[in-house]
Amino acid sequence: MQVLVTGGAGYIGSHTVVELLAAGHRVVVIDNLCNGSPEVLNRIHAITGQQPVFIEGDIRDRVLLDRLFAEHGIDAVIHFAGLKAVGESVACPLTYYENNLYGSMVLCRAMAAAGVRRLVFSSSATVYGEEAAVPYVESMPRGMTSSPYGTSKAMVEKVLEDLCAADQRWSVALMRYFNPIGAHPSGLIGEDPRGIPNNLMPYISQVAVGRLPELSIYGNDYPTADGTCERDYLHVVDLAVGHLKALQILDAPGVKTYNLGMGQSVSVLALVNAFIQVTGVEIPYRFVSRRNGDLAAFWADAGKAHQELGWRAERGLEAMMADTWRWQSKNPGGYR
Ligand code: NAD
Ligand code: UD1
Repeated sequence: MQVLVTGGAGYIGSHTVVELLAAGHRVVVIDNLCNGSPEVLNRIHAITGQQPVFIEGDIRDRVLLDRLFAEHGIDAVIHFAGLKAVGESVACPLTYYENNLYGSMVLCRAMAAAGVRRLVFSSSATVYGEEAAVPYVESMPRGMTSSPYGTSKAMVEKVLEDLCAADQRWSVALMRYFNPIGAHPSGLIGEDPRGIPNNLMPYISQVAVGRLPELSIYGNDYPTADGTCERDYLHVVDLAVGHLKALQILDAPGVKTYNLGMGQSVSVLALVNAFIQVTGVEIPYRFVSRRNGDLAAFWADAGKAHQELGWRAERGLEAMMADTWRWQSKNPGGYR
């Protein structure tokens, strides 16, 4: 297949491009580099011996998209491009709706005009909302989201459902990610957040490499076994493989929704201890007050992806820690 990967210079996109190329697909990447790096393309080449076509540009640029579809015979689109910082989305909601919601709509318009109607979309476990019972199952309704970021994901899901209901030619997979961490085992690509990381794993690895002095653990008074929050962490390479599996079911029309997670939860403290144990590097930490909007614990029921896609997250916590550390220690400053 010839696959268009939006946001392919970012964290999850770059790992997916590697898996696509390794599986024999041809890849075109569009990325405006607002949170990605051009160096990613060189690293993908070093891993796979192949270079995807790279177009630096914005998914909101309809003229550019029309040209791209006209020039590249695209069979399917995997759509990662978007903004993902929850706190920033609260401060700048319009920026988030413009990028994530409007950007997705421009992309769908351009796809329809080009006769391309197979789409895999990056959604998030956050669409289950604040009240859902655990584990999260795809049959549950979308809930009340706690940030414009989460709302933008829920809105795009709804837009895509309506599109599939209106036009039977569309085939869409909504992939709800839990907490992707880790890096490619080569140590050549990984997560490279700009500024101070918001998320736990890059924060830990930047403390480990000496870029940050200590980790603040947000709350140790949650109703969990050790009092810290629990999440369903999965290896980014497993997540990438999930997208390839989704491509295979896009022959049938309609919307399918899949949780991509391990199906079990790990506490913040357990993750920190796993990192220390696997890498031998100490992580100074202290407990601080809870972070606004955090839920105590959630994890996936990942049975549907297993049954329908034949997908299961296979790489365990040890690989997640070792691969994160290989990436961070080989690239202390990220791609810069
Ligand atoms: P990322 O920021 O590393 O990658 C996103 C890429 O999209 C970046 O390279 C950025 O430059 C590009 N981009 C952003 N807006 C664009 C636009 N308008 N036009 C073209 N390119 C644009 O993020 P990621 O962690 O790889 O996440 C990928 C997708 O998965 C996002 O949609 C995100 O919301 C979703 N997601 C991520 C997580 C997570 O924990 N990382 C969890 C759930 C969902
Ligand atoms: C967050 C977002 C979620 C988004 C996901 C990926 C919130 C409330 N949720 O998920 O919508 O899809 O990122 O971008 O922001 N932690 C610390 N110290 C830190 C960082 C995190 O203790 O420095 C804790 C958090 O309190 C949380 C856990 O680690 O309990 C995981 O946090 P994080 O990596 O940010 O992921 P989520 O909050 O699950």
